This record gives sequence, structure tokens and C-alpha cells, in this order.
Amino acid sequence: MIPVSRSFTVRAPAKLNLHLGVGAPREDGFHPLDTVYQAIGIYDDLTVTHAEKWSIALQLADYIEDGAVPAGEDNIVNHAAALLGKRRDAEISIRKDIPVAAGMAGGSADGAAALVALDRLWNCRTSDHDLLDLASQLGSDVPFALIGGTAHGTGRGELVEPLPDQGSWWWVLALSNQGLSTPQVYAHWDRLFPGPSPTPFSALAVLTAIASGSVSALARAMHNDLEAAAFDLRPDLAVLVSLGESEGALRGMMTGSGPTVAFLCRSADEARAVAAGVQVARSEVRRVLVANGPVAGAHVVSYR
Ligand code: C5P
Repeated sequence: MIPVSRSFTVRAPAKLNLHLGVGAPREDGFHPLDTVYQAIGIYDDLTVTHAEKWSIALQLADYIEDGAVPAGEDNIVNHAAALLGKRRDAEISIRKDIPVAAGMAGGSADGAAALVALDRLWNCRTSDHDLLDLASQLGSDVPFALIGGTAHGTGRGELVEPLPDQGSWWWVLALSNQGLSTPQVYAHWDRLFPGPSPTPFSALAVLTAIASGSVSALARAMHNDLEAAAFDLRPDLAVLVSLGESEGALRGMMTGSGPTVAFLCRSADEARAVAAGVQVARSEVRRVLVANGPVAGAHVVSYR
């Protein structure tokens, strides 16, 4: 007989957007996107264990503020459990390394990890297709957190096509002292750019650069429509981009709705040198991390 596991740990990655084209808001309020995601080696680990009572415990990296992640009803793990039909109680523990309100889909990663972990714990045997459907109900970025790697995103971001990516790309992430709210950044973009095209700016240049494997081609092609809105709210971010580039990064760009700025570097050594330079120079930067991508989407790392 196959022994039944009492506990599963699932690891889910942070994401960057290498391209983010935004179109005019749809009737449901969401913006159509043409985006290229990449999963990078910064992770949240979520452990679920059978228990008598439902509980969520958080263990936060030292650069994440206490209270930044809701531990109660509002935690995305509760929504994931409800979507699976909440079969039994469980003890959830989340080790968070993905920065919060940073444009790196930290909440989405926890949502994806919870779907995978609770599906196993409760033996739901949800098909991949149905799991992706539940993920899209949790949030626009959650399907990508399941898929990982490098991928093309359309719709409101939830329609995800994996891309072949032979590169190993090195990134420096400058985390801000203050988060930015995603709805706020989209709303500011609406104010700054009235009457935009319904069709978002195409990701073709980034798709071509990824296919070529050339780091300088990717540096030239990267694009984020939300930068203008976020820089208008937070002029310090534009200064930060220039600083990282002057420290030797090939290209700096805000990721997602920000405020994290990602710097593309030629190698691990170059990334470490840029990280050290940026950390010393800027007081509004909370922490500088180095990570590479692409990495896998949400996956089981241990069970017992
Ligand atoms: O889907 P998710 O919950 O991550 O979206 C959070 C908010 O970000 C939405 O309520 C909306 O204000 C904004 N958003 C958007 N267009 C998208 C994705 C998100 O306007 N494609």
C-alpha cells in the first residue's frame, strides 16, 4: 500500500516582467496585457500539514515588514482552499522570501503553492487544466506562478504560453523601502494616458531576444508601459534605474507594477558587483538581491 503523506512543502518562485504592454481597460476593469514573464530564483516555501484546526503561520525574510502579509481571512491561501472545496483543516506555514507589494507576484506565488499543496494533501487529483483555471480565479499572475520558466502572457495576464528559453539570465533586484499598490499604479496609468489603444504594445522584440539567447538583445528590447505611471508617483525609481546602469548593469527596468527595479547583467560576478554598488549608494533601497532565471514554477520539494 502507498503510505499517505501528512505534510507537503511546495516552493513557488517570484516573477519578473521582461515586457509589459498595457491596453485600454476592458469592461471588467482589467487591462489587456501582452507580457513576457520570467520566474527567478527567489522563492516562498509553503508547508501544509493535516491538523485539527485551520491556521496560517508566517515566517518573513528580514527585508519584509511585519504586518505586510495578512495572516487572517484575507490571505490568498484561504481563497485557494475555498476554490478546492476546503476538504479538511490544515496547518499552513509560509516561509516568505519574495518581497511584498513589489511587482514580483509574491502573493500569487503563495496562491499557486497553496493550490498545489492542498490538492496533494486532500488528494483532490485536480487536472492541470482545472488547476490553471482555479489559479486564474485567484489572480492574473497566479497561472504563471504554476507554470514558471519563461512564458508569454496575454488576456489580463492569466493566459500563459511557455516559451523555450536556453538562456541563464542574471538579475539584480533593488527592493524599495515602500511598496506600490498594483490597482493604484494601473489607475494612475489610466489618468496619465487617456484613450490608449485597446491592443497592448507587442512583446515581439523581447520574444525575439529570448529566442536569440543574446543578453544585449534582451537588454535593448525590455519594455514596461507601467514605468511611466510608477515613476510619476515615485521619481526616485527613475534615479535608481540610472544608478544601476552606471554601476555596470546592461539595463535597468521596473518590474510589473513596481516598485522593484530589476537590472539585467552579463554574469553572476557582474550582478554581485552591481548589487554591491547599488546597495551602498541608495538609502531608499531596502535590500538588493541577486537571482537568476528561468526557474521552475510551483513544485513539491518535500513530503512526509
Ligand atoms: O488579478 P489581480 O488580483 O492580481 O489584480 C489586482 C488589480 O490590479 C486588479 O484589481 C486591477 O486593478 C489591476 N489589474 C489590471 N489589469 C490587469 C491585472 C491587474 O487593471 N491585467
